[in-house]
Amino acid sequence: MTLALYPGTFDPFTNGHLDVLERACRLFDRVEVTVAVNVGKTPLFTLEERCDLIRRCAAHLPGVTVATFEGLLMDHARARGATAQVRGLRQVSDFDYEYRMLFANRRLYPGLETVFLMPSEAHALIHASLVREIHRWGGDVSSFVPPPVLEALRAKRK
Ligand code: PNS
Repeated sequence: MTLALYPGTFDPFTNGHLDVLERACRLFDRVEVTVAVNVGKTPLFTLEERCDLIRRCAAHLPGVTVATFEGLLMDHARARGATAQVRGLRQVSDFDYEYRMLFANRRLYPGLETVFLMPSEAHALIHASLVREIHRWGGDVSSFVPPPVLEALRAKRK
C-alpha cells in the first residue's frame, strides 16, 4: 500500500486543491491530506473547520484521509510511513519556493519523494489567498471553491 501525503494550509480548500487530490488518488493507494497548523497567521477557517470541509469535499474519494500536523512535515511523514508527498504546481512562479522546499525536505527525510502534479488549466490560477481576498470584499468565489466551502464562506459572512 502506497501512502502519499498532500500537505498544505488549505485556508480554504479550493477547486485547484481538489483537482490535485483527485489526480493523486489515481497514483497512490492512500492519500492523506495533511493540514498544517497555520503558525504565525490568523486563518480564516480553524484547523477543525478546514479538516471538516476537506472531508466533505473529498467524500467521493475512498482512499483519502485527513490529518493535522504541527512542526516539521518530514517528521510527520516519517512517523506515518509515507513514501511520497504531493504538491500542486500551478505556474512557474510556484517553482522557486517548491524547489527549495523539496531539497530541504529531502535532507530531512531522504526516504520520501516529492511528486508535483499540475491541476487542469481551469484551476491553474486559483490561490487560496485570492479566494480569501475576494470573499473579504464580498466578491463571488463560487467558481473557485467546492460547494461545501462556498456554503461555509457564506455562513461566515452572516
Ligand atoms: O499551503 P502551503 O502554505 O503551500 O503549505 C506549505 C506547507 C505547510 C506544506 C509547508 O510550509 C510546511 O511543510 N510547513 C511545515 C514546516 C516544515 O516542515 N518546514 C520545512 C520545509 S523545508
